[in-house]
Amino acid sequence: MTTSFVQEISQFLSQKTKKDPSFFVPFIEKPPSLEMGDYSFICFPLAKELKKNPKDLAQELAQAFPPSPHFDKVISTGPYLNFFVNQKFYQTEIIQDIVNKKELYGSSHEETPKTIVLEYSSPNIAKPFHIGHFRATIIGNSLKKIFEMLGHTCIGINYLGDWGTQFGKLICAFKKWGDVKDLKDDPIQYLHSLYVRFHSEAKSNPSLEEEAREWFKKCEKKDPEALKLWKEFKELSLKEFKLIYDDLHVQFDEVSGESHYDEFIPKTISEIQASLKTQISEGALIIDLEKFGMPPALLLRSDGASLYLTRDIAALFDRHNRLHFDKIIYVVGDTQTLHFKQLFKIIELMGKPWVKNCHHIAFGQIRFKDQKMSTREGKAIWLEDMLHRSTELISKIIEEKNPTLKDKKEVAQKVGLGAIIFADFSSKRIKNSVFDWDVILNPDGDTGPYVLYTYARASSILRKACHPEKKACHPEQSEGSLIPLESPEERMLIGHLERFPHIIASAAHDFEPCYIANYLLDLAKLFNRFYHEHRVIQENPDLQSARLKLVTATRQVMSTGLSLLGIEPPEEL
Ligand code: ARG
Repeated sequence: MTTSFVQEISQFLSQKTKKDPSFFVPFIEKPPSLEMGDYSFICFPLAKELKKNPKDLAQELAQAFPPSPHFDKVISTGPYLNFFVNQKFYQTEIIQDIVNKKELYGSSHEETPKTIVLEYSSPNIAKPFHIGHFRATIIGNSLKKIFEMLGHTCIGINYLGDWGTQFGKLICAFKKWGDVKDLKDDPIQYLHSLYVRFHSEAKSNPSLEEEAREWFKKCEKKDPEALKLWKEFKELSLKEFKLIYDDLHVQFDEVSGESHYDEFIPKTISEIQASLKTQISEGALIIDLEKFGMPPALLLRSDGASLYLTRDIAALFDRHNRLHFDKIIYVVGDTQTLHFKQLFKIIELMGKPWVKNCHHIAFGQIRFKDQKMSTREGKAIWLEDMLHRSTELISKIIEEKNPTLKDKKEVAQKVGLGAIIFADFSSKRIKNSVFDWDVILNPDGDTGPYVLYTYARASSILRKACHPEKKACHPEQSEGSLIPLESPEERMLIGHLERFPHIIASAAHDFEPCYIANYLLDLAKLFNRFYHEHRVIQENPDLQSARLKLVTATRQVMSTGLSLLGIEPPEEL
Protein backbone atom coordinates (compact mmCIF):
# COMPACT_ATOMS: atom_id res chain seq x y z
CA MET A 1 0.00 0.00 0.00
CA THR A 2 1.11 3.55 -0.57
CA THR A 3 3.72 3.95 2.04
CA SER A 4 3.20 7.59 2.96
CA PHE A 5 -0.44 7.14 4.06
CA VAL A 6 0.21 3.90 5.89
CA GLN A 7 3.30 5.46 7.43
CA GLU A 8 1.38 8.46 8.69
CA ILE A 9 -1.22 6.17 10.28
CA SER A 10 1.36 3.91 11.88
CA GLN A 11 3.41 6.88 13.13
CA PHE A 12 0.34 8.32 14.77
CA LEU A 13 -0.53 4.99 16.42
CA SER A 14 3.05 4.58 17.52
CA GLN A 15 3.11 8.02 19.19
CA LYS A 16 -0.12 7.24 21.01
CA THR A 17 0.96 3.83 22.26
CA LYS A 18 4.80 3.97 22.35
CA LYS A 19 4.98 0.85 20.21
CA ASP A 20 7.12 0.46 17.12
CA PRO A 21 5.31 1.70 13.97
CA SER A 22 5.98 -1.64 12.24
CA PHE A 23 3.67 -3.35 14.74
CA PHE A 24 0.68 -1.63 13.16
CA VAL A 25 1.38 -2.10 9.47
CA PRO A 26 -0.13 -5.62 9.13
CA PHE A 27 -3.37 -4.41 10.71
CA ILE A 28 -3.85 -1.46 8.36
CA GLU A 29 -6.02 -2.70 5.52
CA LYS A 30 -8.07 -1.62 2.54
CA PRO A 31 -11.71 -1.91 3.59
CA PRO A 32 -14.12 -3.74 1.26
CA SER A 33 -16.32 -0.71 0.55
CA LEU A 34 -15.83 3.02 0.17
CA GLU A 35 -18.23 3.83 3.03
CA MET A 36 -15.60 2.41 5.32
CA GLY A 37 -12.98 4.80 4.02
CA ASP A 38 -9.71 4.15 2.24
CA TYR A 39 -7.88 2.43 5.09
CA SER A 40 -9.04 0.74 8.21
CA PHE A 41 -7.28 -0.33 11.36
CA ILE A 42 -8.65 -3.10 13.53
CA CYS A 43 -8.11 -2.35 17.20
CA PHE A 44 -8.45 -5.88 18.64
CA PRO A 45 -4.76 -6.89 18.84
CA LEU A 46 -3.72 -3.52 20.21
CA ALA A 47 -6.61 -3.42 22.70
CA LYS A 48 -5.62 -6.86 23.92
CA GLU A 49 -2.06 -5.73 24.60
CA LEU A 50 -3.18 -2.51 26.27
CA LYS A 51 -5.94 -4.36 28.15
CA LYS A 52 -8.57 -1.94 26.88
CA ASN A 53 -12.00 -2.31 25.34
CA PRO A 54 -11.47 -2.26 21.53
CA LYS A 55 -14.48 -0.03 20.89
CA ASP A 56 -13.38 2.54 23.47
CA LEU A 57 -9.85 2.43 22.14
CA ALA A 58 -11.06 3.03 18.56
CA GLN A 59 -13.10 6.02 19.72
CA GLU A 60 -10.25 7.45 21.73
CA LEU A 61 -7.80 7.12 18.84
CA ALA A 62 -10.23 8.58 16.28
CA GLN A 63 -10.65 11.69 18.42
CA ALA A 64 -6.91 12.03 18.93
CA PHE A 65 -5.99 11.92 15.24
CA PRO A 66 -4.44 15.33 14.49
CA PRO A 67 -5.57 17.43 11.51
CA SER A 68 -3.57 16.45 8.45
CA PRO A 69 -3.58 17.66 4.86
CA HIS A 70 -3.54 14.02 3.74
CA PHE A 71 -6.67 12.89 5.56
CA ASP A 72 -10.18 14.37 5.37
CA LYS A 73 -11.52 12.53 8.40
CA VAL A 74 -10.98 9.63 10.74
CA ILE A 75 -13.91 7.92 12.42
CA SER A 76 -14.43 4.91 14.63
CA THR A 77 -16.93 2.19 13.77
CA GLY A 78 -17.09 -0.39 16.52
CA PRO A 79 -13.57 -1.76 16.99
CA TYR A 80 -12.39 -0.24 13.68
CA LEU A 81 -10.74 3.02 12.85
CA ASN A 82 -11.69 4.22 9.36
CA PHE A 83 -9.46 6.67 7.55
CA PHE A 84 -10.77 8.81 4.70
CA VAL A 85 -7.86 10.15 2.71
CA ASN A 86 -7.69 13.39 0.81
CA GLN A 87 -8.45 12.21 -2.71
CA LYS A 88 -6.35 14.84 -4.42
CA PHE A 89 -3.17 13.80 -2.63
CA TYR A 90 -3.98 10.13 -2.71
CA GLN A 91 -4.83 9.83 -6.38
CA THR A 92 -1.96 12.00 -7.52
CA GLU A 93 0.46 9.96 -5.47
CA ILE A 94 -0.70 6.55 -6.68
CA ILE A 95 -1.32 7.34 -10.31
CA GLN A 96 1.79 9.45 -10.71
CA ASP A 97 3.84 6.73 -9.02
CA ILE A 98 2.63 4.15 -11.55
CA VAL A 99 3.04 6.44 -14.52
CA ASN A 100 6.58 7.35 -13.44
CA LYS A 101 7.79 3.91 -12.46
CA LYS A 102 6.14 2.12 -15.40
CA GLU A 103 6.98 -1.61 -15.31
CA LEU A 104 8.90 -1.08 -12.07
CA TYR A 105 5.75 -0.16 -10.15
CA GLY A 106 5.35 -2.98 -7.66
CA SER A 107 9.06 -3.78 -7.53
CA SER A 108 11.02 -3.44 -4.36
CA HIS A 109 14.50 -3.92 -3.05
CA GLU A 110 14.78 -6.34 -0.19
CA GLU A 111 17.28 -5.18 2.40
CA THR A 112 19.03 -8.53 2.12
CA PRO A 113 18.44 -9.87 -1.38
CA LYS A 114 18.65 -13.64 -1.60
CA THR A 115 20.06 -16.00 -4.18
CA ILE A 116 17.21 -18.24 -5.20
CA VAL A 117 17.69 -21.28 -7.42
CA LEU A 118 14.55 -22.35 -9.25
CA GLU A 119 14.41 -25.64 -11.05
CA TYR A 120 11.51 -25.87 -13.48
CA SER A 121 10.31 -27.40 -16.72
CA SER A 122 12.70 -30.42 -16.66
CA PRO A 123 11.16 -32.48 -19.47
CA ASN A 124 12.40 -35.90 -20.50
CA ILE A 125 14.47 -36.39 -23.61
CA ALA A 126 12.80 -38.34 -26.40
CA LYS A 127 9.39 -37.92 -24.82
CA PRO A 128 6.78 -35.35 -25.76
CA PHE A 129 6.39 -32.24 -23.65
CA HIS A 130 3.18 -32.85 -21.74
CA ILE A 131 0.89 -30.67 -19.72
CA GLY A 132 2.74 -31.45 -16.48
CA HIS A 133 5.99 -30.06 -17.90
CA PHE A 134 4.05 -27.11 -19.26
CA ARG A 135 2.71 -26.35 -15.78
CA ALA A 136 6.17 -26.72 -14.24
CA THR A 137 7.54 -24.38 -16.90
CA ILE A 138 5.02 -21.59 -16.49
CA ILE A 139 4.88 -21.75 -12.68
CA GLY A 140 8.69 -21.70 -12.41
CA ASN A 141 8.97 -18.92 -14.97
CA SER A 142 6.40 -16.82 -13.15
CA LEU A 143 7.92 -17.37 -9.69
CA LYS A 144 11.32 -16.38 -11.04
CA LYS A 145 9.92 -13.10 -12.40
CA ILE A 146 8.08 -12.44 -9.15
CA PHE A 147 11.21 -12.96 -7.04
CA GLU A 148 13.27 -10.83 -9.38
CA MET A 149 10.68 -8.08 -9.06
CA LEU A 150 11.36 -8.12 -5.33
CA GLY A 151 15.09 -7.65 -5.88
CA HIS A 152 16.32 -11.23 -5.44
CA THR A 153 18.93 -12.86 -7.66
CA CYS A 154 17.40 -15.86 -9.37
CA ILE A 155 19.02 -18.76 -11.17
CA GLY A 156 16.68 -20.79 -13.38
CA ILE A 157 17.70 -24.37 -14.08
CA ASN A 158 16.23 -26.80 -16.57
CA TYR A 159 17.14 -30.31 -15.35
CA LEU A 160 16.53 -32.65 -18.25
CA GLY A 161 15.52 -36.26 -17.81
CA ASP A 162 18.30 -37.52 -20.07
CA TRP A 163 19.63 -40.58 -18.25
CA GLY A 164 18.33 -43.88 -17.01
CA THR A 165 17.46 -47.36 -18.20
CA GLN A 166 14.82 -46.03 -20.61
CA PHE A 167 17.64 -44.88 -22.88
CA GLY A 168 18.86 -48.47 -23.13
CA LYS A 169 15.36 -49.39 -24.33
CA LEU A 170 15.32 -46.59 -26.84
CA ILE A 171 18.71 -47.45 -28.29
CA CYS A 172 17.74 -51.11 -28.45
CA ALA A 173 14.48 -50.25 -30.24
CA PHE A 174 16.19 -47.89 -32.65
CA LYS A 175 18.84 -50.46 -33.52
CA LYS A 176 16.11 -53.02 -34.27
CA TRP A 177 13.40 -51.02 -35.99
CA GLY A 178 14.70 -47.46 -36.36
CA ASP A 179 14.69 -45.41 -39.52
CA VAL A 180 16.96 -42.36 -39.81
CA LYS A 181 14.60 -40.42 -42.05
CA ASP A 182 11.61 -40.88 -39.74
CA LEU A 183 13.79 -39.83 -36.86
CA LYS A 184 14.81 -36.57 -38.56
CA ASP A 185 11.25 -35.80 -39.70
CA ASP A 186 9.57 -35.75 -36.31
CA PRO A 187 12.15 -36.79 -33.71
CA ILE A 188 10.26 -36.75 -30.45
CA GLN A 189 7.06 -38.36 -31.69
CA TYR A 190 9.08 -40.95 -33.56
CA LEU A 191 11.28 -41.81 -30.57
CA HIS A 192 8.22 -41.98 -28.39
CA SER A 193 6.54 -44.42 -30.78
CA LEU A 194 9.68 -46.60 -30.73
CA TYR A 195 9.57 -46.59 -26.96
CA VAL A 196 5.89 -47.63 -26.98
CA ARG A 197 6.69 -50.37 -29.48
CA PHE A 198 9.54 -51.62 -27.30
CA HIS A 199 7.17 -52.07 -24.39
CA SER A 200 4.55 -53.91 -26.35
CA GLU A 201 7.10 -56.25 -27.99
CA ALA A 202 8.90 -56.89 -24.70
CA LYS A 203 5.70 -58.38 -23.29
CA SER A 204 6.03 -61.39 -25.59
CA ASN A 205 9.82 -61.25 -25.86
CA PRO A 206 11.36 -60.62 -22.43
CA SER A 207 14.92 -60.99 -23.73
CA LEU A 208 14.50 -57.45 -25.12
CA GLU A 209 14.67 -56.13 -21.56
CA GLU A 210 18.04 -57.81 -21.09
CA GLU A 211 19.33 -56.30 -24.34
CA ALA A 212 18.12 -52.86 -23.27
CA ARG A 213 19.95 -53.16 -19.94
CA GLU A 214 23.13 -54.03 -21.83
CA TRP A 215 22.71 -50.92 -23.99
CA PHE A 216 22.30 -48.69 -20.99
CA LYS A 217 25.37 -50.26 -19.36
CA LYS A 218 27.21 -49.37 -22.54
CA CYS A 219 26.08 -45.77 -22.12
CA GLU A 220 27.40 -45.74 -18.57
CA LYS A 221 30.71 -47.16 -19.77
CA LYS A 222 30.86 -44.49 -22.48
CA ASP A 223 30.72 -46.95 -25.35
CA PRO A 224 31.05 -44.76 -28.49
CA GLU A 225 28.17 -46.31 -30.45
CA ALA A 226 25.73 -46.11 -27.54
CA LEU A 227 26.77 -42.57 -26.65
CA LYS A 228 26.52 -41.38 -30.23
CA LEU A 229 22.88 -42.47 -30.49
CA TRP A 230 22.04 -41.12 -27.06
CA LYS A 231 23.61 -37.77 -27.97
CA GLU A 232 21.70 -37.61 -31.22
CA PHE A 233 18.37 -38.32 -29.48
CA LYS A 234 19.20 -35.63 -26.95
CA GLU A 235 20.18 -32.99 -29.47
CA LEU A 236 17.11 -33.59 -31.62
CA SER A 237 14.87 -33.38 -28.55
CA LEU A 238 16.51 -30.19 -27.35
CA LYS A 239 15.97 -28.59 -30.72
CA GLU A 240 12.25 -29.24 -30.43
CA PHE A 241 12.11 -28.09 -26.82
CA LYS A 242 13.83 -24.87 -27.83
CA LEU A 243 10.94 -24.05 -30.17
CA ILE A 244 8.52 -24.52 -27.27
CA TYR A 245 10.58 -22.29 -24.97
CA ASP A 246 10.77 -19.64 -27.66
CA ASP A 247 6.98 -19.69 -28.03
CA LEU A 248 6.54 -19.43 -24.29
CA HIS A 249 9.31 -16.79 -23.96
CA VAL A 250 10.93 -18.86 -21.27
CA GLN A 251 14.66 -18.82 -20.62
CA PHE A 252 17.01 -20.67 -18.31
CA ASP A 253 20.33 -19.68 -16.82
CA GLU A 254 21.49 -23.27 -16.80
CA VAL A 255 20.42 -26.32 -18.76
CA SER A 256 21.78 -29.46 -17.19
CA GLY A 257 20.47 -32.95 -16.89
CA GLU A 258 20.56 -36.18 -15.01
CA SER A 259 23.34 -37.52 -17.26
CA HIS A 260 25.65 -34.78 -16.05
CA TYR A 261 25.47 -36.20 -12.55
CA ASP A 262 26.37 -39.76 -13.48
CA GLU A 263 30.02 -39.15 -12.81
CA PHE A 264 29.27 -37.59 -9.41
CA ILE A 265 27.66 -40.83 -8.20
CA PRO A 266 30.67 -42.65 -6.61
CA LYS A 267 31.59 -39.52 -4.62
CA THR A 268 27.97 -38.96 -3.59
CA ILE A 269 27.59 -42.55 -2.44
CA SER A 270 30.74 -42.36 -0.31
CA GLU A 271 29.59 -39.07 1.23
CA ILE A 272 26.24 -40.62 2.06
CA GLN A 273 27.90 -43.68 3.55
CA ALA A 274 30.23 -41.52 5.65
CA SER A 275 27.29 -39.94 7.46
CA LEU A 276 24.47 -42.48 7.20
CA LYS A 277 23.78 -46.15 7.55
CA THR A 278 23.01 -47.76 4.20
CA GLN A 279 21.92 -51.36 3.63
CA ILE A 280 21.99 -53.95 0.92
CA SER A 281 18.56 -55.31 0.08
CA GLU A 282 18.21 -57.88 -2.69
CA GLY A 283 21.52 -56.67 -4.05
CA ALA A 284 20.45 -52.99 -4.15
CA LEU A 285 21.90 -50.24 -1.97
CA ILE A 286 19.17 -48.58 0.08
CA ILE A 287 18.52 -46.28 3.02
CA ASP A 288 15.85 -47.48 5.38
CA LEU A 289 13.39 -44.63 5.99
CA GLU A 290 10.71 -46.65 7.77
CA LYS A 291 11.18 -44.64 10.97
CA PHE A 292 10.04 -41.60 9.03
CA GLY A 293 7.03 -43.32 7.54
CA MET A 294 8.55 -43.60 4.08
CA PRO A 295 9.50 -46.51 1.85
CA PRO A 296 13.25 -47.23 1.54
CA ALA A 297 15.28 -44.89 -0.64
CA LEU A 298 16.95 -46.75 -3.50
CA LEU A 299 20.48 -45.49 -4.18
CA LEU A 300 22.02 -48.11 -6.48
CA ARG A 301 20.38 -50.96 -8.33
CA SER A 302 21.76 -54.46 -8.01
CA ASP A 303 23.63 -53.98 -11.29
CA GLY A 304 25.29 -50.87 -9.89
CA ALA A 305 23.26 -48.36 -11.94
CA SER A 306 22.34 -45.12 -10.20
CA LEU A 307 18.74 -44.03 -9.77
CA TYR A 308 16.69 -40.87 -10.20
CA LEU A 309 16.98 -40.16 -6.46
CA THR A 310 20.76 -40.67 -6.35
CA ARG A 311 21.24 -38.26 -9.21
CA ASP A 312 19.04 -35.73 -7.44
CA ILE A 313 21.16 -36.00 -4.29
CA ALA A 314 24.31 -35.42 -6.36
CA ALA A 315 22.72 -32.48 -8.18
CA LEU A 316 21.55 -30.84 -4.97
CA PHE A 317 25.02 -31.00 -3.40
CA ASP A 318 26.56 -29.65 -6.58
CA ARG A 319 24.13 -26.74 -6.68
CA HIS A 320 24.69 -25.98 -3.04
CA ASN A 321 28.49 -25.96 -3.43
CA ARG A 322 28.54 -24.09 -6.68
CA LEU A 323 25.69 -21.59 -6.49
CA HIS A 324 25.64 -20.86 -2.73
CA PHE A 325 21.87 -20.50 -2.77
CA ASP A 326 19.81 -19.12 0.08
CA LYS A 327 16.81 -21.03 -1.19
CA ILE A 328 16.20 -23.72 -3.80
CA ILE A 329 12.79 -24.36 -5.29
CA TYR A 330 11.83 -27.45 -7.27
CA VAL A 331 8.72 -26.84 -9.35
CA VAL A 332 7.55 -30.39 -9.96
CA GLY A 333 4.11 -32.04 -9.97
CA ASP A 334 2.57 -33.48 -6.82
CA THR A 335 3.05 -37.05 -8.09
CA GLN A 336 6.68 -36.65 -6.97
CA THR A 337 5.97 -35.45 -3.45
CA LEU A 338 7.34 -38.64 -1.89
CA HIS A 339 10.50 -38.41 -3.99
CA PHE A 340 11.27 -34.93 -2.68
CA LYS A 341 10.41 -35.91 0.89
CA GLN A 342 12.95 -38.70 0.62
CA LEU A 343 15.51 -36.43 -0.98
CA PHE A 344 15.23 -33.77 1.71
CA LYS A 345 15.13 -36.35 4.51
CA ILE A 346 18.41 -37.86 3.32
CA ILE A 347 20.05 -34.41 3.21
CA GLU A 348 18.73 -33.76 6.72
CA LEU A 349 20.04 -37.12 7.97
CA MET A 350 23.42 -36.23 6.49
CA GLY A 351 23.41 -33.32 8.95
CA LYS A 352 22.98 -30.44 6.51
CA PRO A 353 21.04 -27.63 8.19
CA TRP A 354 20.50 -25.85 4.85
CA VAL A 355 17.92 -28.49 3.97
CA LYS A 356 15.37 -26.11 5.50
CA ASN A 357 15.92 -23.87 2.48
CA CYS A 358 14.95 -26.60 0.01
CA HIS A 359 11.35 -26.55 -1.17
CA HIS A 360 9.27 -28.75 -3.40
CA ILE A 361 6.72 -26.45 -4.99
CA ALA A 362 4.16 -29.00 -6.04
CA PHE A 363 1.18 -28.60 -8.33
CA GLY A 364 -1.89 -30.65 -9.12
CA GLN A 365 -3.06 -32.13 -12.35
CA ILE A 366 -5.17 -30.75 -15.13
CA ARG A 367 -7.53 -32.69 -17.32
CA PHE A 368 -9.62 -31.47 -20.22
CA LYS A 369 -13.31 -32.03 -20.64
CA ASP A 370 -12.64 -32.15 -24.38
CA GLN A 371 -12.37 -35.79 -25.47
CA LYS A 372 -10.09 -34.78 -28.34
CA MET A 373 -7.43 -33.85 -25.81
CA SER A 374 -6.59 -37.40 -24.78
CA THR A 375 -6.95 -39.43 -27.93
CA ARG A 376 -3.26 -40.17 -28.40
CA GLU A 377 -1.92 -43.20 -26.54
CA GLY A 378 -2.13 -42.95 -22.83
CA LYS A 379 -3.77 -40.21 -20.88
CA ALA A 380 -1.03 -37.61 -21.28
CA ILE A 381 -1.95 -34.32 -22.89
CA TRP A 382 0.73 -33.03 -25.22
CA LEU A 383 1.41 -29.31 -25.20
CA GLU A 384 1.39 -29.15 -28.98
CA ASP A 385 -2.19 -30.48 -29.22
CA MET A 386 -3.33 -28.18 -26.47
CA LEU A 387 -1.94 -25.01 -28.05
CA HIS A 388 -3.21 -25.95 -31.44
CA ARG A 389 -6.77 -26.47 -30.21
CA SER A 390 -6.77 -23.32 -28.12
CA THR A 391 -5.57 -21.18 -31.03
CA GLU A 392 -8.13 -22.75 -33.36
CA LEU A 393 -11.01 -21.99 -30.98
CA ILE A 394 -9.81 -18.44 -30.27
CA SER A 395 -9.56 -17.79 -34.02
CA LYS A 396 -13.29 -18.56 -34.28
CA ILE A 397 -14.05 -16.08 -31.50
CA ILE A 398 -11.96 -13.40 -33.21
CA GLU A 399 -13.72 -14.13 -36.50
CA GLU A 400 -17.05 -13.42 -34.79
CA LYS A 401 -16.01 -10.41 -32.74
CA ASN A 402 -13.56 -8.58 -34.95
CA PRO A 403 -13.13 -10.11 -38.41
CA THR A 404 -11.08 -7.19 -39.75
CA LEU A 405 -8.42 -7.44 -37.02
CA LYS A 406 -4.81 -7.11 -38.24
CA ASP A 407 -2.41 -10.07 -37.86
CA LYS A 408 -5.25 -12.37 -36.82
CA LYS A 409 -3.11 -15.48 -36.80
CA GLU A 410 -0.41 -14.17 -34.45
CA VAL A 411 -2.99 -12.55 -32.20
CA ALA A 412 -4.93 -15.83 -31.96
CA GLN A 413 -1.73 -17.63 -31.00
CA LYS A 414 -0.96 -15.09 -28.29
CA VAL A 415 -4.47 -15.18 -26.88
CA GLY A 416 -4.71 -18.98 -27.20
CA LEU A 417 -1.55 -19.41 -25.16
CA GLY A 418 -2.45 -16.62 -22.75
CA ALA A 419 -5.84 -18.24 -22.11
CA ILE A 420 -4.26 -21.54 -21.08
CA ILE A 421 -1.62 -19.91 -18.90
CA PHE A 422 -4.25 -17.76 -17.24
CA ALA A 423 -6.56 -20.73 -16.64
CA ASP A 424 -3.61 -22.54 -15.10
CA PHE A 425 -3.14 -19.70 -12.66
CA SER A 426 -6.81 -19.29 -11.86
CA SER A 427 -6.64 -21.49 -8.82
CA LYS A 428 -4.00 -22.44 -6.31
CA ARG A 429 -1.16 -24.55 -7.68
CA ILE A 430 -2.02 -27.70 -5.83
CA LYS A 431 -5.62 -27.95 -7.00
CA ASN A 432 -6.52 -30.53 -9.62
CA SER A 433 -8.74 -28.98 -12.27
CA VAL A 434 -10.76 -29.94 -15.26
CA PHE A 435 -10.50 -27.45 -18.11
CA ASP A 436 -13.48 -26.83 -20.30
CA TRP A 437 -12.67 -24.82 -23.45
CA ASP A 438 -16.04 -23.05 -23.33
CA VAL A 439 -15.20 -21.79 -19.87
CA ILE A 440 -11.51 -20.91 -20.14
CA LEU A 441 -11.77 -19.16 -23.51
CA ASN A 442 -14.96 -17.22 -22.82
CA PRO A 443 -14.14 -13.52 -23.39
CA ASP A 444 -16.88 -12.55 -20.92
CA GLY A 445 -15.94 -14.99 -18.17
CA ASP A 446 -13.29 -14.98 -15.45
CA THR A 447 -10.65 -15.79 -18.01
CA GLY A 448 -7.43 -14.78 -19.72
CA PRO A 449 -9.28 -13.60 -22.84
CA TYR A 450 -11.43 -11.33 -20.63
CA VAL A 451 -8.31 -9.68 -19.18
CA LEU A 452 -6.69 -9.49 -22.62
CA TYR A 453 -9.77 -7.88 -24.18
CA THR A 454 -9.77 -5.35 -21.35
CA TYR A 455 -6.09 -4.62 -21.86
CA ALA A 456 -6.70 -4.09 -25.59
CA ARG A 457 -9.59 -1.76 -24.74
CA ALA A 458 -7.35 0.36 -22.52
CA SER A 459 -4.71 0.46 -25.26
CA SER A 460 -7.29 1.47 -27.80
CA ILE A 461 -8.57 4.36 -25.65
CA LEU A 462 -5.05 5.68 -25.33
CA ARG A 463 -4.40 5.25 -29.03
CA LYS A 464 -7.54 7.18 -29.87
CA ALA A 465 -6.78 9.96 -27.41
CA CYS A 466 -3.25 10.25 -28.64
CA HIS A 467 -4.03 10.12 -32.34
CA PRO A 468 -1.86 12.80 -33.99
CA GLU A 469 -4.87 14.36 -35.71
CA LYS A 470 -6.64 14.67 -32.39
CA LYS A 471 -4.33 17.00 -30.49
CA ALA A 472 -1.50 14.94 -29.13
CA CYS A 473 -1.67 13.88 -25.54
CA HIS A 474 1.03 12.22 -23.50
CA PRO A 475 -0.45 11.38 -20.15
CA GLU A 476 2.84 10.09 -18.83
CA GLN A 477 4.54 13.42 -19.48
CA SER A 478 2.16 15.72 -17.65
CA GLU A 479 3.40 15.83 -14.08
CA GLY A 480 1.72 17.45 -11.10
CA SER A 481 -1.51 17.07 -9.25
CA LEU A 482 -4.65 15.88 -10.96
CA ILE A 483 -8.18 16.87 -10.32
CA PRO A 484 -9.60 14.24 -8.00
CA LEU A 485 -11.86 11.60 -9.53
CA GLU A 486 -14.82 11.38 -7.22
CA SER A 487 -17.04 8.59 -8.51
CA PRO A 488 -17.15 5.25 -6.67
CA GLU A 489 -16.01 3.41 -9.84
CA GLU A 490 -12.92 5.58 -10.12
CA ARG A 491 -12.09 5.45 -6.47
CA MET A 492 -12.44 1.67 -6.34
CA LEU A 493 -10.20 1.30 -9.37
CA ILE A 494 -7.51 3.55 -7.90
CA GLY A 495 -7.72 1.75 -4.56
CA HIS A 496 -7.17 -1.53 -6.39
CA LEU A 497 -4.15 -0.20 -8.27
CA GLU A 498 -2.63 0.68 -4.94
CA ARG A 499 -2.76 -2.95 -3.84
CA PHE A 500 -0.57 -4.29 -6.61
CA PRO A 501 2.83 -4.21 -4.81
CA HIS A 502 1.27 -5.92 -1.84
CA ILE A 503 -0.17 -8.69 -4.07
CA ILE A 504 3.25 -9.36 -5.61
CA ALA A 505 4.76 -9.69 -2.16
CA SER A 506 2.13 -12.20 -1.03
CA ALA A 507 2.42 -14.20 -4.27
CA ALA A 508 6.16 -14.52 -3.56
CA HIS A 509 5.57 -15.41 0.07
CA ASP A 510 3.17 -18.26 -0.72
CA PHE A 511 4.75 -19.24 -4.09
CA GLU A 512 1.34 -18.58 -5.66
CA PRO A 513 1.20 -16.74 -8.99
CA CYS A 514 -2.57 -17.26 -8.86
CA TYR A 515 -2.83 -14.25 -6.53
CA ILE A 516 -1.69 -12.10 -9.44
CA ALA A 517 -4.15 -13.72 -11.87
CA ASN A 518 -7.04 -13.13 -9.46
CA TYR A 519 -5.90 -9.58 -8.87
CA LEU A 520 -5.87 -8.94 -12.63
CA LEU A 521 -9.39 -10.28 -13.01
CA ASP A 522 -10.64 -7.85 -10.38
CA LEU A 523 -8.66 -5.07 -11.98
CA ALA A 524 -10.23 -5.80 -15.36
CA LYS A 525 -13.73 -5.86 -13.84
CA LEU A 526 -13.19 -2.56 -12.03
CA PHE A 527 -11.77 -1.00 -15.16
CA ASN A 528 -14.73 -2.11 -17.28
CA ARG A 529 -17.16 -0.75 -14.72
CA PHE A 530 -15.35 2.58 -14.79
CA TYR A 531 -15.27 2.60 -18.58
CA HIS A 532 -18.98 1.86 -18.92
CA GLU A 533 -19.97 4.60 -16.50
CA HIS A 534 -17.63 7.40 -17.53
CA ARG A 535 -16.43 9.09 -20.69
CA VAL A 536 -12.67 9.25 -20.86
CA ILE A 537 -12.35 11.38 -23.97
CA GLN A 538 -14.47 14.47 -23.41
CA GLU A 539 -14.79 18.26 -23.29
CA ASN A 540 -13.45 18.99 -19.83
CA PRO A 541 -9.66 18.91 -20.37
CA ASP A 542 -8.78 18.47 -16.67
CA LEU A 543 -11.17 15.58 -16.28
CA GLN A 544 -9.96 14.03 -19.51
CA SER A 545 -6.36 14.34 -18.42
CA ALA A 546 -7.05 12.74 -15.02
CA ARG A 547 -9.00 9.90 -16.60
CA LEU A 548 -6.40 9.30 -19.29
CA LYS A 549 -3.79 9.02 -16.60
CA LEU A 550 -5.98 6.51 -14.80
CA VAL A 551 -6.29 4.49 -18.01
CA THR A 552 -2.52 4.69 -18.53
CA ALA A 553 -1.87 3.50 -14.97
CA THR A 554 -4.37 0.64 -15.26
CA ARG A 555 -2.94 -0.49 -18.56
CA GLN A 556 0.56 -0.41 -17.07
CA VAL A 557 -0.36 -2.51 -14.05
CA MET A 558 -2.19 -4.99 -16.29
CA SER A 559 0.81 -5.27 -18.54
CA THR A 560 3.20 -5.79 -15.60
CA GLY A 561 0.89 -8.34 -13.99
CA LEU A 562 0.45 -10.29 -17.22
CA SER A 563 4.17 -10.28 -17.81
CA LEU A 564 4.74 -11.69 -14.31
CA LEU A 565 2.53 -14.59 -15.36
CA GLY A 566 4.41 -14.99 -18.65
CA ILE A 567 1.55 -13.68 -20.79
CA GLU A 568 2.14 -11.27 -23.63
CA PRO A 569 -0.95 -9.19 -24.42
CA PRO A 570 -1.81 -8.09 -27.96
CA GLU A 571 -2.38 -4.34 -28.33
CA GLU A 572 -5.45 -4.87 -30.50
CA LEU A 573 -8.05 -7.56 -30.24
N1 ARG B 1 12.25 -35.14 -15.59
C1 ARG B 1 11.38 -35.40 -14.48
C2 ARG B 1 10.01 -35.83 -15.00
O1 ARG B 1 9.62 -35.45 -16.07
C3 ARG B 1 11.19 -34.19 -13.61
C4 ARG B 1 12.44 -33.72 -12.92
C5 ARG B 1 12.16 -32.97 -11.69
N2 ARG B 1 13.31 -32.46 -11.02
C6 ARG B 1 14.12 -33.15 -10.22
N3 ARG B 1 15.14 -32.53 -9.72
N4 ARG B 1 13.86 -34.38 -9.88
O2 ARG B 1 9.32 -36.53 -14.31
